[in-house]
Amino acid sequence: MEERRRNPWSGRVAVTGASGALGSALCKGLQRRGATVIGISRSPAPQTPQGDEDDPIQDWLVWNGHIDAALEALLLTVDVLVINHGVNPLGRRDAKAIAETLQANLVSAQDLIGLFLRQTHQLPDQRRVHRELWVNTSEAEVGPAFSPIYEVSKRSLGTLLTLQSLDAPCIVRRLVLGPFRSGLNPYGPMSAGFVAERILDLAAWDLRLIIVSFNPCTYLLAPLAMGMDALYGRLCTRPTTTNTQLNNKFNADP
Ligand SMILES: NC(=O)c1ccc[n+]([C@@H]2O[C@H](COP(=O)([O-])OP(=O)(O)OC[C@H]3O[C@@H](n4cnc5c(N)ncnc54)[C@H](OP(=O)(O)O)[C@@H]3O)[C@@H](O)[C@H]2O)c1
Repeated sequence: MEERRRNPWSGRVAVTGASGALGSALCKGLQRRGATVIGISRSPAPQTPQGDEDDPIQDWLVWNGHIDAALEALLLTVDVLVINHGVNPLGRRDAKAIAETLQANLVSAQDLIGLFLRQTHQLPDQRRVHRELWVNTSEAEVGPAFSPIYEVSKRSLGTLLTLQSLDAPCIVRRLVLGPFRSGLNPYGPMSAGFVAERILDLAAWDLRLIIVSFNPCTYLLAPLAMGMDALYGRLCTRPTTTNTQLNNKFNADP
């Protein structure tokens, strides 16, 4: 615990979409800062070419986008989970594109968020204080992404995340990123390496809303949208009661 106070990166960090442009840049940046990195990916662990100075990522879990026992067991052991995976169907609007995009960007991300928060509630205090959930929602939450299905998936993810953050038992950081070059967006003006370094710098300053964008409107609209969603959620929904809280109440009742 003392070690983590001196260096916020001394824990175990799992990153989904680890073989993608941002995922691999985040893994490298985290590892350089001293974190133990676990890549979660649909692909096998990358082989580091001989003579390459980069260390291979320390640990790797192959998943199919769904929760299974191996993923559950792994997430219990990590301090930080970065939900980063995603797809963009670009110009498509067919039923398959809608189903695949909602499944990857919204349903599987929500499954992971739910699991991580449930696990965190059940952990002892000394483990819980180090748990952090990072979710990559995208600037598409508050602006056009020239891909309506992608926008819907990321906006819904962001709105639900705001609700879930109201009762979260751990730190929740939201990554709101402008366009960068990757498999998902070949035309982005920023590089994934630049974006990853800015994310890690801003997280080290303990920012919960991490915005990396050249669009000044995003710095105004993202906090505004989050604030409005949070107010709406507080006014119209009840706090979540966890099983742990219910058990405590039950045990305390005479
Ligand atoms: N590029 C941009 O302009 C931009 C802007 C704002 C936000 N973002 C967000 O940044 C995140 C990373 O994207 P990227 O730009 O780095 O694109 P990328 O290089 O295509 O990486 C995305 C990764 O997500 C994983 N993935 C794809 N389909 C999946 C599925 N159906 N189920 C589970 N995982 C899947 C894949 O990694 P594995 O093969 O390792 O599983 C893929 O490499 C995404 O959430 C994206 O929405 C991107």
